[in-house]
Amino acid sequence: MGRSNGGGKLAATLALAFFATLIIMLPEVSAKRFIVGGNMGWTSNVNYTLWAGNQTFYFGDWLFFVYDRNQNDVIEVNKTNYETCIAEHPIHNYTTGAGRDVVALNVTHDRYFISSKGSCYGGMKVHVHLTPLPPPPKAAPVKSHSSRFTVLRSQLVIPAVFAVAAVWDSLILRV
Ligand SMILES: *[C@@H]1O[C@H](CO)[C@@H](O)[C@H](O)[C@H]1NC(C)=O
Ligand SMILES: *[C@@H]1O[C@H](CO)[C@@H](O)[C@H](O)[C@H]1NC(C)=O
Ligand SMILES: *[C@@H]1O[C@H](CO)[C@@H](O)[C@H](O)[C@H]1NC(C)=O
Ligand SMILES: *[C@@H]1O[C@H](CO)[C@@H](O)[C@H](O)[C@H]1NC(C)=O
Ligand SMILES: *[C@@H]1O[C@H](CO)[C@@H](O)[C@H](O)[C@H]1NC(C)=O
Repeated sequence: MGRSNGGGKLAATLALAFFATLIIMLPEVSAKRFIVGGNMGWTSNVNYTLWAGNQTFYFGDWLFFVYDRNQNDVIEVNKTNYETCIAEHPIHNYTTGAGRDVVALNVTHDRYFISSKGSCYGGMKVHVHLTPLPPPPKAAPVKSHSSRFTVLRSQLVIPAVFAVAAVWDSLILRV
């Protein structure tokens, strides 16, 4: 029943569903967890200015500091104390003692984190600037979204596409 033209219709439906799903899901799936320093983690001898310059941080993302708990810590300071590596009177001490500390990027202002153990002077400090969130999904052309969304979220998006497509296809076939 009406299956003869099903291939073309299904392809068109899939394409439609893909873009619809992308648009619907973007706001919900965009949080990302950044391991500070990537493979190197939180340690001396990493230029975190270079590392951070290579990332795009959005409100709602997370920082994950992974380090040797016997060597280092994670202290949030203000800009002045970031520049001078002063850990006294910190804004917040994120050190839990496990060498695995999580920071929610849930405020829009710039954030400054340093190690209080001396390595700060060698560059063990990171400044995080949030990129303003992308414009409301409806107004945004799909192509402008970075691979951050399309690649990293594909595991979530693709099954949803098939689910939507299946529903859509069955609706069309019934008409
Ligand atoms: C920045 O990202 C590019 C592409 O992923 C990578 O090749 C490069 O090594 C990165 N640089 C730093 C400092 O992480
Ligand atoms: C940064 O924090 C230090 C110590 O709490 C304080 O003395 C200083 O005034 C602060 N600087 C700014 C710009 O807020
Ligand atoms: C941060 O907290 C850890 C664990 O409680 C503590 O050992 C360390 O002295 C604190 N560092 C600073 C600079 O307050
Ligand atoms: C940000 O997240 C932390 C940890 O989850 C929480 O303690 C804090 O209240 C949050 N701040 C805001 C402004 O939501
Ligand atoms: C990190 O790299 C930037 C750009 O090359 C450089 O200006 C800065 O001095 C470096 N920082 C450290 C601590 O080496």
